[in-house]
Amino acid sequence: MNTPKRYLITAALPYANGLKHIGHLAGAYLPADIYVRYLKAQKRDVVFVCGSDEHGTAIPIQATKEGTTAQAIIDKYHPIIEQNFKDLGIQFDIYHRTSDPLHHETAAEFFTNLEAKGDLETKTTEQYFDEASQTFLADRYIKGTCPNCAHKEAYGDQCEKCGKSLSPEELINPVSTLSGNTPIKKETTHWYLPLNKHEDFLREWILNDHAKDWRAAVVGQCKSWIDGGLQARAVTRDLDWGVKVPLASGAGKVLYVWFDAPIGYISATKQWALNTGKDWTPYWNDKETKLVHFIGKDNIVFHCIIFPIMLKLNGNILPENIPANEFMNLEGDKMSTSKGWSIEMDDYINKWIKKDNGGNGLADSLRFYLTAIAPESKDSEFTWKGFQESVNGELVSIFANFVNRTWVLMHKLCKGKVPPIHTDLLDDEDQAILISVKESKEKITELLELYKFREAQFEVINLARIGNQYMQKKEPWILAKQLDSDPTAQAKIDNCMHACLQLCANLAILMNPFLPFTSKKMCYMMKVVDKMLEWENAGGFNLLKVGYSLRPPELLFRKIEDEEIEAELTQLRSNLIAKKNTMDSNTPAANPSEPKDKSLKSEIVFDDFGKIDLRVGTIIEAKKVEKADKLLQLEVDLGTEKRTILSGIAMHFEPAAIIGKQVVVVANLAPRKMRGIESKGMILMAEDANGKLYFVQPSEAIAAGSTIS
Ligand code: 2FM
Ligand code: ZN
Repeated sequence: MNTPKRYLITAALPYANGLKHIGHLAGAYLPADIYVRYLKAQKRDVVFVCGSDEHGTAIPIQATKEGTTAQAIIDKYHPIIEQNFKDLGIQFDIYHRTSDPLHHETAAEFFTNLEAKGDLETKTTEQYFDEASQTFLADRYIKGTCPNCAHKEAYGDQCEKCGKSLSPEELINPVSTLSGNTPIKKETTHWYLPLNKHEDFLREWILNDHAKDWRAAVVGQCKSWIDGGLQARAVTRDLDWGVKVPLASGAGKVLYVWFDAPIGYISATKQWALNTGKDWTPYWNDKETKLVHFIGKDNIVFHCIIFPIMLKLNGNILPENIPANEFMNLEGDKMSTSKGWSIEMDDYINKWIKKDNGGNGLADSLRFYLTAIAPESKDSEFTWKGFQESVNGELVSIFANFVNRTWVLMHKLCKGKVPPIHTDLLDDEDQAILISVKESKEKITELLELYKFREAQFEVINLARIGNQYMQKKEPWILAKQLDSDPTAQAKIDNCMHACLQLCANLAILMNPFLPFTSKKMCYMMKVVDKMLEWENAGGFNLLKVGYSLRPPELLFRKIEDEEIEAELTQLRSNLIAKKNTMDSNTPAANPSEPKDKSLKSEIVFDDFGKIDLRVGTIIEAKKVEKADKLLQLEVDLGTEKRTILSGIAMHFEPAAIIGKQVVVVANLAPRKMRGIESKGMILMAEDANGKLYFVQPSEAIAAGSTIS
């Protein structure tokens, strides 16, 4: 494997028209960040660029929705998205903006160059025009029925239901989204990139040169585009929001967003060079640069077909790989912010990270789960239960457990210092652990070079698992009881703890690309500087010097509790209902082909219902549960007995205000322990679309214990 001279890594520029969800994070930004952190640990010359995609029709449309201007929209969302990425440890070298003058200049120059060389064509065609607003209807300004799946709300550039790329002419019953009127046709002239002229180049470059090293799904999608016959694509639009066409004949026109956005990678590199005093040109012009685009699968055609043609024509280098990810679904359905079925990065940060005192362990917990289920070869599924199981079962029980045990025992049995090695007492197990570390490093390196992040992370956890098994076999806590009877006991403890500590140091290096906050914390515990995290250090067993005193253990991750997961699921369902209600009040007719309201659970038979014992109860005591923001501990009088019931209503009611309230209790629910308290039953609550809770009560006060049927 020849090491490239330098790397330019890009992650798809997100539209600055709203918050981005964790599916976006898992699709492009997290894998890109892992790769970049690994390359930087290898001391390679790397620049990682990203930024806001601020053009296209999506932005002014969002502005209309929010009753503001396109400029105000991008100025609102750009900094939020940038900060969200930072909070989740995505460390770009630059997070630029396509509204920046440097970008406008760069994109205009790119267009002028291609135009001057005769690489673009102009064509005059009839396009849809809205007479009421005197506007040509590009892309999202026109809606209609999808010719592919009959979805009634397909846009002029794409059907969001089936994913098919469309042109406005393909829509059935087209309607202007500006006025709601049926548009007329009117002549207009545009510049086109004749993709058809580059078919041979694409066949050679993708289907021949890269068929083996690119992901199968990426090659497959490219092949079907090429085999389907490539056509000239318009690269300009009749709009006023975007990069102005830099020609007198282009007055009133802008570059198509998908022409200017990828050029944003170049302008971001230029800005980075200006900021750091470096030269940007070799990153885009020198063949010894390895260019890699991280994207989601919906961006494949632009990054594998259109942009490479543009780069070739402009004399730039081509991407070496485009490891596009499939989609990550959420609890059984496609993630969609507009439908209310998503987890926004911003939401996760506010609810989990900030509330936990800025607990970066929770940023890493999310990074961990998203990588563990990375949709590298097929769509994957985020579930809150899966998140809980992954964090509690692997991060807490395997990784953190090994590090924590090592630290606690080292402080207890080795005076808080790295113990010496007693070579005469080293055995096969000690040798084996050393070999495991070296082999793991090789495997992880190979997997990272192949963009197999999911498997690579699994290998790191596996190494921690090996560490646990090793410690379990050596049982230093038993040796500690034999200090008086066995003169070699302390030496054996030393050997074991020395190996475990060196293994922890290796884990910090190997885990760093995936869980950077955790590795940093481990460096603090080891009293070493970040330099120790350089990749070349992994595989060694002399990372921590004998006699060096180490800090006490830090909490790396915390367990995820059942009630937190239940609260998230409840929240998700109410978001869906709230969004649906807003959409219903804006949309005159519901689409009959849309799935049914997801909040409805599947049908049950009468006997199922008959199993539930519902009773009227009276709350006689209520108090907050320590360290559980959402829980109230209630004492409920059920007539013949008093029950302790925990209820997740603490954010909605003051304890004192609910004493004496009558409630409906599920009296035969199996008891459950939460925060060490046994809850015997459940209180029924009603919740409105805004998430406000109400007690379900009999219409008049009746005797506690009365039955409900
Ligand atoms: O799909 C998207 O979110 C686009 N804004 C991605 C653009 S990537 C690149 F071309 F800038
Ligand atoms: Zn469709």
